[in-house]
Amino acid sequence: MEKHKRILVTSALPYANGPIHLGHLAGAYLPADVYVRYQRLQHRDVVYICGSDEHGVPITIAAEKQGIEPREIVDRFHSQNIAAFEAFGMSFDYFGRTSSEIHHQTSQNFFKTLYDKGILKQKKEKQLYDPKVKMFLPDRYVKGTCPACSYPEAYGDQCEKCGASLSAAELIDPRSTISGEKPVKKETLHWFLPLGEFQDRLQTWLSGKQNWKSNVRGQVQSWLNDGLSDRAVTRDLSWGVPVPLEEARGKVLYVWFDAPIGYISATKEWALEKKSPDLWQHYWQDKETKLVHFIGKDNIVFHCIMFPAMLMAHGDYILPDNVPANEFLNLEGNKLSTSRNYAVWLEDYLKKFPADPLRYFLAINAPETKDTDFTWKEFQLRNNGELADILGNFINRTLSFAHQQFDGHVPNVYDLDDLDRAMLSILKKAPKTIGHFLEQFELRKAASALVDVARDANKYFNDQAPWKSRNENPEKCATTIHICLQTAHQLALLMEPFMPFSALKLWKMLNKEGALHAQHWDQLRPLNPGHNLAAPEILFNKIEDEDIEPEIERLKRAAPQETDEREPLSIAPEIEFDTFGKIDLRVAIVKKAVKMPKADKLLKLSIELGNEERQIIAGVAQHYKPEQLIGKRIIVVANLKAAKIRGEKSEGMLLAAEDSDGSMAMLVPDKKIKTGAKIK
Ligand code: MF3
Ligand code: ZN
Repeated sequence: MEKHKRILVTSALPYANGPIHLGHLAGAYLPADVYVRYQRLQHRDVVYICGSDEHGVPITIAAEKQGIEPREIVDRFHSQNIAAFEAFGMSFDYFGRTSSEIHHQTSQNFFKTLYDKGILKQKKEKQLYDPKVKMFLPDRYVKGTCPACSYPEAYGDQCEKCGASLSAAELIDPRSTISGEKPVKKETLHWFLPLGEFQDRLQTWLSGKQNWKSNVRGQVQSWLNDGLSDRAVTRDLSWGVPVPLEEARGKVLYVWFDAPIGYISATKEWALEKKSPDLWQHYWQDKETKLVHFIGKDNIVFHCIMFPAMLMAHGDYILPDNVPANEFLNLEGNKLSTSRNYAVWLEDYLKKFPADPLRYFLAINAPETKDTDFTWKEFQLRNNGELADILGNFINRTLSFAHQQFDGHVPNVYDLDDLDRAMLSILKKAPKTIGHFLEQFELRKAASALVDVARDANKYFNDQAPWKSRNENPEKCATTIHICLQTAHQLALLMEPFMPFSALKLWKMLNKEGALHAQHWDQLRPLNPGHNLAAPEILFNKIEDEDIEPEIERLKRAAPQETDEREPLSIAPEIEFDTFGKIDLRVAIVKKAVKMPKADKLLKLSIELGNEERQIIAGVAQHYKPEQLIGKRIIVVANLKAAKIRGEKSEGMLLAAEDSDGSMAMLVPDKKIKTGAKIK
């Protein structure tokens, strides 16, 4: 089935400027860990790499805010996150960090190779500079108004409102996030990766990836359709990997250049630790390796465009085979916000609850194809209803029965009836079914197939009623319990990728010789009749209302309010009435609406405005379907100078309101009125 010789799995390197929360786990960590544990049980050659991403502006800004060195921050979170990951059962083969010596060398050599090959473009550019603190202001060191959506708090690298990826110089009314000053423009020298030159190769590569998740392929294709441009890979900063060129003193590599190389450096460090320093090359340079990057959707462009282009440019490396990026996990119906402490932090969770129920929840409710929601209530329901009442209950009744009636031994198996045969066939199929889903990164289906086995097993137990057959037909009773024990045994193995702690606990109750992780996924040797079992224990405890109530309360308090006082509105500068009077607002009606090809945000509308018919291009495609707009009366700016948007003319602008969460509502007249009517 698996045509590759070996598998290299990575999870996005978490920034070492804060603790791990559930959103991280759902996107890049739990799915990867389940996948890797499963591959190990298939006895495949798999290496799982991660580490701390210790560079980048958010880290230096955090350090400045706290008045400490960046090093202190990354040291603290590097070890803190390792500990939390471990308690959550993450089974990395190696967890590196991008401040390591080997990483600095590896990323510098990588840069040097591209430089020596003449691939990087060197350009002098005017960039924003804060004269007060005497430094350039890359990325998040500037805030300003987004040129795409007018959100006033956009960052120099990205607008968190509309998602546009920006460069600091594009911001309207920029201001320094250090001093609040208005920056000046100053010339500086930087090196660029000419992504456009890789466009065709990236397109060909992507076209071969029909098996990728459609959310990932779609996003990458739309970046390619928009056309790729040069990306600066250096920054004027002091924290980071120094650019290895004489003429680049005081500059470092852009964090999104060095961080993915961190996967390579960490693999090198892993090989060194294994005392086989060249081993990393098999994983990064041999075509028979399958490279899989687990990430959240916000990282798609870096893993599917930028890093592959870097790898192509370098020439010595394989490209990712798959990038099963996940969507986001929301929390009690709202977006996570770390700055507002609207998140569930892994360390806090683990102080109160065991890891496995959360692992299970994040698998069965994984944001695979769309955003999903974590609610404490749903978490409690699934734990109590599925883990405790179905899985745990089956194990518990089976083991208790074996201890009470068969003296803690596996009974003999006698003649099989249809129900026995059906149960055995379920057991036989389960590893294949679950394995198949896991190979396709379908965690939700895999986790529910696992619980289905236990659900079927409970039904089998009920139907066979061993408490009755015990007196009427002892051989039948023995056979039933024998099969239930084989089921428990098989379940221990099937549970391992998802819930390794409980799987191990069950494995110990079954008292099987040999380690659980040394078993083979689809060749488990059955328990022998007469085998002696260990004492049963409760596998999953119920979660009570009072365990989750304080958590729900805390989140309610931290939830974004209707109007959030913490973010003052930034109202545009005052204008004269005359200025307003120059804007000619009119009622129009939408006659036709179609999606603009190759632009996910735009719709092309034909509108009737009095006796005129006009075309306008409106950025509402993510909020309205074309058919919702047809026949709608809207308000347009009728005297806006015509413009060309993506090659189409736009004669006017429609009015819509947008709130701080990005939801949008169009302005419409509250009763029927002729098109062309003037708004005053
Ligand atoms: N630190 C980044 C984030 O949390 C992920 C870096 S992934 C890597 O979004 F590929 F760059 F390492
Ligand atoms: Zn924006």
